Amino acid sequence: MDCFGIITGANGYLAKNVINVLDNYCDKIFLIDIKHSEDPNQITKYENVNLDVTDENRVKDFFQSIDYSNFNKSILVNMAAIDHKVNEDGPEFNWSIENSNIDSLRKSLEVSLVGTFLTSKYFCINSVNNNLISYVLNFASDLSILISDDSVYNSLNNHKPIDYAIAKHGLLGLTKYFAVYYAKNNIRVNTISPSGVANNQSKEFVEAYEKLAPMNRMIEAQEIEGAVEFLISDKSSFITGQNIVLDGGKSIW
Ligand SMILES: NC(=O)c1ccc[n+]([C@@H]2O[C@H](COP(=O)([O-])OP(=O)(O)OC[C@H]3O[C@@H](n4cnc5c(N)ncnc54)[C@H](O)[C@@H]3O)[C@@H](O)[C@H]2O)c1
Repeated sequence: MDCFGIITGANGYLAKNVINVLDNYCDKIFLIDIKHSEDPNQITKYENVNLDVTDENRVKDFFQSIDYSNFNKSILVNMAAIDHKVNEDGPEFNWSIENSNIDSLRKSLEVSLVGTFLTSKYFCINSVNNNLISYVLNFASDLSILISDDSVYNSLNNHKPIDYAIAKHGLLGLTKYFAVYYAKNNIRVNTISPSGVANNQSKEFVEAYEKLAPMNRMIEAQEIEGAVEFLISDKSSFITGQNIVLDGGKSIW
């Protein structure tokens, strides 16, 4: 065996596209999610791991349970997040600063920032100890560099919750810190920042959102795969600490 992969938030909407990419590079793939059920007899290439990424002891135990002797490369893709969706009826709930709930804000920051810190920490420690060549890819969003455009949400009498922008902006700092810290250890750490992915959102939302990008449409889920492949492979061998924005030009005008 050569390379193993780990995806957090593997029960989410975009995980299948990351799996499509990792499948060509990895001999073993661990699919971590707080919503996964585990089969203790799993011996296939894919292994479901039921894990809360904010639980340090369990994250540490998981990384210690891997038999590193079989591998010389490893890939961690951090996707776990609290991302309130816009569905065919519009946003899941109404959000405003005035009526915000501090517990849900804390929970969101904990999953995105503390969770990504913990999985990255134990992944990197074990990569160094086992002399692996390693890649970390953190999923942010165009809201890592922008704030959601209220022309979209106000037309729906709503706002995108603030925790998402805080978490995604924070992920850029976390990425750069890990990139510098582990640069001499054959570990590269980067971020990918897609804008809103087409996923059966309400017609009103889609029409307003499409106007935000010069390319005049939302990104399709499979369009993230090229950037993922670039950042988790030797194709980006001198790139670390960077953020690739996939937004159809939304952030440039
Ligand atoms: N879908 C989009 O439009 C879009 C756009 C830009 C960026 N992103 C980002 O890409 C990533 C993946 O997006 P998605 O649409 O697949 O997200 P999603 O909301 O569908 O999935 C997130 C997954 O994270 C899991 N999770 C939540 N808390 C967890 C915890 N404590 N421990 C382990 N797992 C936990 C959830 O169970 C869920 O399966 C996210 O970070 C998201 O913010 C998504």
